[in-house]
Amino acid sequence: MINYAHVFQGTSFSSKSFSEITILKDYLYCINQDGIIEQLVSPEDEQYEFLLKEYEGKENFHYLAEGEYLLPGFIDLHVHAPQWAQTGTALDLPLEDWLSTYTFPVESKFSDINFAQNVYEDLVKTLLANGTTTVLYFATVHKEASLLLAKLCAKLGQRGLVGKVVMDNVDQCPDYYRDANTETAIKETEEFIVEVQQLNEQTKQGIYPVVTPRFIPSCTDEALQGLGELAAKYNTHIQSHCSESDWQHGYAIDRFGRHDAFALNEFGLLQEKSIMAHCNFIAEEDAQLFAATGTAVAHCPISNVFFSNGVLPAKHIRGLGVDVGLGTDVSGGFSPSLFDNIRQAVISSRMLEEGVDTTVSADKRGVCSSRLTTNEAFYFATAGGGESLSLPIGRIEENYAWDVQVINTTLPSAKLPIFNDPLEDVFQKILYLARPENISEVWVQGEKVHQR
Ligand code: GUN
Ligand code: FE
Repeated sequence: MINYAHVFQGTSFSSKSFSEITILKDYLYCINQDGIIEQLVSPEDEQYEFLLKEYEGKENFHYLAEGEYLLPGFIDLHVHAPQWAQTGTALDLPLEDWLSTYTFPVESKFSDINFAQNVYEDLVKTLLANGTTTVLYFATVHKEASLLLAKLCAKLGQRGLVGKVVMDNVDQCPDYYRDANTETAIKETEEFIVEVQQLNEQTKQGIYPVVTPRFIPSCTDEALQGLGELAAKYNTHIQSHCSESDWQHGYAIDRFGRHDAFALNEFGLLQEKSIMAHCNFIAEEDAQLFAATGTAVAHCPISNVFFSNGVLPAKHIRGLGVDVGLGTDVSGGFSPSLFDNIRQAVISSRMLEEGVDTTVSADKRGVCSSRLTTNEAFYFATAGGGESLSLPIGRIEENYAWDVQVINTTLPSAKLPIFNDPLEDVFQKILYLARPENISEVWVQGEKVHQR
């Protein structure tokens, strides 16, 4: 008899493919000591009654009550942790002015470790409470505060991938907020990588260092080259921003005579564990380069409404073989919730497909075949995020981590309108109507990390 760490009984929703979901009704979910799903047992399976008898009534047996459902934990591929301090404000300027007017001043405050502690602890707890079990974070240029964020993820049980941001280009970064020089930026990034890789050895759920050139405008060629080499040496993830807005896309063309994607690739920054945020202006050749190198896109649909001058053709680039996941882009995006971003991904894709200017005739107004279904946007927030990070997360399947959220649809203050619906409809209602208070428990790698 296998000694499972936990056994859950209930109904779950998870992606089967990009467009289809799997519903496991009344299954048993057997979680091993490493926090991995070892066995999924259907009620028809001969072991079902045997396992029930063995575990029912024990402390490590978890029965989901009527109206409770399991979803995979969400994977947020793009969060600026320091910007949590200004989330919900400062959404009135174009990207380049927003950075210098609001964002660099806020991020510069993270030289103060006490301020960093307050903001980062609140953010990690908030994201967990919103059902987000894995996060790819930009911290700031400050090594100590960036390490603190990694340690807080380790302590609070979130799977964190954290980058010390590199900004060494004096033409584009203010005196009060940039790396001292290129050499220091590379040296501190290397020290950060080594320390986080050590931290990871003591952390069940995984804490990973991420090589993080903020974006091409912030970095010199020497820094971009050095960072590509560090990522290869330590086999780390890489993150940056790519072709986000008219201005950013144009900047790389002016400096290098080519798109961000090709410039980043020359510096060794596109590889299997690279995740590029936004990419709204991605051309066909850029997407093909992403697919060939294994580079993923973090689609940030709420942020894009404010800062990107356009909608990412997410469906199209996925069709070209690019991995796509979802990001909140706190605080370019005002919501810490991937539920909200699933909704916006669907809404924006519908507006892209239909077009928005009613003075243009219907046949010329939009970009056909752009719409995302609810299942597809859910895929981006879960399985697509796991594929983008090359980690076994984002699905309720054997050999995947037990990273889940328990959704209670019956809460008196946030009851979902479910009246004998088929389970497919319950799933859709959860995705469109659930609020943070409906998330009653969150688990990461077999450990409970949030309870309402
Ligand atoms: N490009 C460079 N930095 C940022 C940032 O902080 N947010 C967004 N949305 N785009 C960026
Ligand atoms: Fe961003």
